[in-house]
Amino acid sequence: MSDLLITGGKIVNEGRSAEQDVLVRQGRIERIGPSISPPSPSCKIIDASGKLVMPGLIDDQVHFREPGLTHKACMRTESRAAVAGGITTFFEMPNVSPPTLDMKRLEEKYAIAARDSVANYAFFLGASNENIDAVKAADPTKIAGIKIFMGSSTGNMLVDEEDVLEKIFRHAPATIATHCEHTPSILENEETAKKEFGDEVPFSEHPKIRSREACLRSSSLAVELAKREKARLHVLHITTAEELALFESGHDRITAEACVHHLWFEQSDYQELGSLIKCNPAIKSAEDRSAIRQAVADGRISVLATDHAPHTWEEKQASYFKAPSGLPLAQHSLPLMLEMTKTGCFSIETVVERACHAPTRIFDVRERGFLREGYWADLVIVDPDRETVVDESELFSRCNWSPFSGTRFSHSVELTLVSGQVAYYAGKPSDEPTGQRVEFESQRR
Ligand code: DOR
Repeated sequence: MSDLLITGGKIVNEGRSAEQDVLVRQGRIERIGPSISPPSPSCKIIDASGKLVMPGLIDDQVHFREPGLTHKACMRTESRAAVAGGITTFFEMPNVSPPTLDMKRLEEKYAIAARDSVANYAFFLGASNENIDAVKAADPTKIAGIKIFMGSSTGNMLVDEEDVLEKIFRHAPATIATHCEHTPSILENEETAKKEFGDEVPFSEHPKIRSREACLRSSSLAVELAKREKARLHVLHITTAEELALFESGHDRITAEACVHHLWFEQSDYQELGSLIKCNPAIKSAEDRSAIRQAVADGRISVLATDHAPHTWEEKQASYFKAPSGLPLAQHSLPLMLEMTKTGCFSIETVVERACHAPTRIFDVRERGFLREGYWADLVIVDPDRETVVDESELFSRCNWSPFSGTRFSHSVELTLVSGQVAYYAGKPSDEPTGQRVEFESQRR
């Protein structure tokens, strides 16, 4: 692994932006400072003048579909899309086939990632109505956290028995991440829609079916359980203004997340994009979107992530009840977040805090997520003066379509370093498995 010296870039890290050099040796950041000299003649120099240098994103919510659903995606293809989007580490969800409900299945995924992943990786252990013993026995140094589908979505992983939920919250050895939607309300709304439209429900009904009440009811229960059982809780993909009242800025034990599609689209976009933006929870109103953007700015939302969830184009052509929910998002995550800084929603320093630093703290990640001497060199160089144009011929996700097709973002990812190795450069992801297994602290409750 050769030494790398990145010179003249504007480093955005830990709430500050300043011009500094970064020296990378043996995969780690050796020094950050002004005017660093190359330590050896073989040291590669990257001139980052006029560019931004920031920690790579830690995306705590992706669905890479391996094992079992590889017609949609796999670890290799999706990790290549991830590094193109500035993501250097991902935490992957358990709704694969078979679902990741015990440590044996989890280790099988680690083995696939060690063979194929271009980005650093970790995996959530899924909870079910039946696997409390596996949850209790889970080694907190080996899991990203415990994922609970408190609302049903892709896969059959709903946990809806309240006594089981209580036990999971009481015994989870690490941070719990929840998908919150109250399924009985959704089923009722589906029946109402069926009466009105039959099987051809317009996609614009999705936010009414996957309703705001369903979200609030389930998120409120999750927060109540976390307080009662003294668990660490991270509520994934918040979509309504009302849910924001459940969270406080600066609180690191009960936290919330916003995902890029919920920050970008609003419900009238269903008219044009239909199933392509069908996702769970649904995209809600423009007012909800503004409230979520504001909460990202003021810290009630702690984390920015993607919920990258690819399905094939053919699957997405089906009618409302058959078309699966989820969108491929990873490849454009950082350009989209930076676009929101351009339009004044929040600052670049806030993007770095929410997408890089906060996941590190909430999930107790070791030695990543910050540009610090001694930490792994997971970083991104961004060109603020070169556009990213979303072109269907330049997509890396296996499903090969994007909800952003034709969109122009004002920033572009130029280079991504994963554990000190070049994982993406000048439009091309690496073919090497440059990712490493993420390590976690041992005390995590
Ligand atoms: O829209 C979604 N798609 N939401 C989820 O919770 C799951 C995901 C998927 O796996 O397809």
